[in-house]
Amino acid sequence: SISDFVKIVEVGPRDGLQNVKKVVPTEVKVNLIDGLSQSGLKSIEATSFVSPKWVPQLADAKEVMSRITRNPECVYPVLVPNLKGLETALACNISEIGIFTAASEAFCKKNINCSIKESYERFAPTIELAKKNNITIRGYVSCVAGCPYQGDVSHGSVGEVSQKLLEMGCSEISLGDTIGVGTPGKINELLKTILPFLPIENVALHMHDTYGQALGNVYVGLDHGIRVFDSSVAGLGGCPYARGASGNVATEDLIYMLHGCGCDTGVDIDKVIEVGHFISQALERDSGSKVAIARAPK
Ligand code: HMG
Ligand code: MG
Repeated sequence: SISDFVKIVEVGPRDGLQNVKKVVPTEVKVNLIDGLSQSGLKSIEATSFVSPKWVPQLADAKEVMSRITRNPECVYPVLVPNLKGLETALACNISEIGIFTAASEAFCKKNINCSIKESYERFAPTIELAKKNNITIRGYVSCVAGCPYQGDVSHGSVGEVSQKLLEMGCSEISLGDTIGVGTPGKINELLKTILPFLPIENVALHMHDTYGQALGNVYVGLDHGIRVFDSSVAGLGGCPYARGASGNVATEDLIYMLHGCGCDTGVDIDKVIEVGHFISQALERDSGSKVAIARAPK
């Protein structure tokens, strides 16, 4: 068994909700985050400070941050695309941000309306201000296993963007299979190529489950020594700027697999299942978690 502590970064309130069409009341978002913070999860990505024209669902970011009941054991990272987003977020008592770019030029343009190189230029002052405020910075690299607009993405560009974000001051990079097209074989090849050049303790995986491969891909990462994985309660999620992308690997399923492999997560799976039922009911959708379905009250 792979016995070790594994950190789970819950991204449901952000990655999960950003793609929901119907307006989710702020109160539901707050209850979702507060429920998750009572489960033993240590990192809960709460919302995004992006343009409300681009992601209307998260336009209530300030309100969400002011209404949650903060558990001192948890950090509540938020996504910021630029200095403007950080400035607004700083007024909300944040301690960690996620900046995001891509290994694919075509996706970067669709998602944040700039080239990869321009994204670094936006991040430089954002990172500088974050550091001045003792904010931890996580960097997302999207499309590591393929792009909905350009197709193949080279291992070289995934490695290069990852290294650049670490050099610029990110303390962790999260490799995103944005559209869930990776397979264990493909992710294994990618990690074999890029991990020798990256500090493994600073690498996380962010696997979407569009093709049902996410848990298999996580297992490959675990085997390579990665100990941080992003997931979303009830498998909520998908990027509105990635055609056909569905949710992240479900937190419930990730915990079940990790505990079954002998890993410690510090998370109470029953509590996460309960929160998953709450949000699935609130959104009037079926849970994307197999474990939640297996354990659903009959
Ligand atoms: P732009 O239109 O090029 O930016 O968008 P701009 O600087 O020209 O500004 C346009 C307008 O947006 C202006 O307002 C700005 O003030 C406003 P106007 O004058 O038109 O009224 N604006 C902002 N408002 C609020 N907060 C801000 C902000 N910045 C500008 N921070 C921009 C560029 C980056 C803003 C836009 O493209 C954007 O917001 N994109 C976000 C897209 C997004 O959130 N995508 C989903 C998250 S990424 C993801 O899901 C992948 C991930 O999960 C990993 C994976 O799965 O791979 C992380
Ligand atoms: Mg994502």
